[in-house]
Amino acid sequence: MSDLFDLKGHRALVTGAGSGLGKQFAKTLAAAGAEVVLAARRHEKLKATATEIDNAGGTAACIDLDVTNSDSIRECFELAEQEIGLIDIVVNNAGISRDSFAVELSEEDWDAVIDTDLKGVFMVAQAAAQRLIKAQKPGSIINIASILGSRVTKMLVPYNAAKAGVKHMTKSLALEWARYGIRVNSISPGFFRTEINEHAMQAGYEERLNSMIPMKRIGQVEELSGALLLLASDAGSFITGSDIVVDGGHLCSSL
Ligand code: NAI
Repeated sequence: MSDLFDLKGHRALVTGAGSGLGKQFAKTLAAAGAEVVLAARRHEKLKATATEIDNAGGTAACIDLDVTNSDSIRECFELAEQEIGLIDIVVNNAGISRDSFAVELSEEDWDAVIDTDLKGVFMVAQAAAQRLIKAQKPGSIINIASILGSRVTKMLVPYNAAKAGVKHMTKSLALEWARYGIRVNSISPGFFRTEINEHAMQAGYEERLNSMIPMKRIGQVEELSGALLLLASDAGSFITGSDIVVDGGHLCSSL
């Protein structure tokens, strides 16, 4: 049965792989046998992830990528193909948030979040699919959404909207690309302590969160590995257009 989740012979690209969930996703894919491209803007952080993967016996290459820049995305896929071959697994993980009440939100912050969390996810998925279709090869694209794409919290209007958009876009892309053997799915994590929410967690927020989550705790990054491997591997060969929620029951908390 373990062969079902085996990724030997696959080549994966993870955006935002220098920290948080992306780092864990890259390590998980490498441990399952995939060759991994770590793609983001902070080269030193990518190198540190690559070293961890190498030390664990995996294979990782680092490529600079800004998901808000289409030239950067094109160059990244070109380089990835030169270095390890055609990418057939993409984890669209890079993301940012900006805290602001809606009436005070600047246009710049709106654009930054939507450009990274929604448009960037589309452009990376499109670049991957274009290459797979041209090569007539199947693939798996995994977009990282959020439970904030289903329910909302204050001060995160563009983030909530982008993540809802990612979930719906995932279904749209799955519909168009199923005929090419390209599966497109999303994962909606609940709360995991990373750089993106560190500032909020420091203000005693984690204790309040824990009381609202049915399992009474936030997640550990390793707890996303099962969903990731299911969607990336042959174990998920008939799954496309789906969203897997990994949140300790947070979405079904009492209203
Ligand atoms: P993080 O801040 O550690 O990771 C985000 C990564 O994206 C960073 O490495 C950052 O450098 C990279 N990034 C940002 N803008 C980029 C750009 N323009 N081009 C390339 N890379 C860029 O935070 P975390 O939590 O690991 O976030 C990963 C994903 O998970 C995000 O999409 C986030 O929205 C999502 N998520 C996180 C949750 C959490 O509780 N931590 C919950 C639900 C979703």
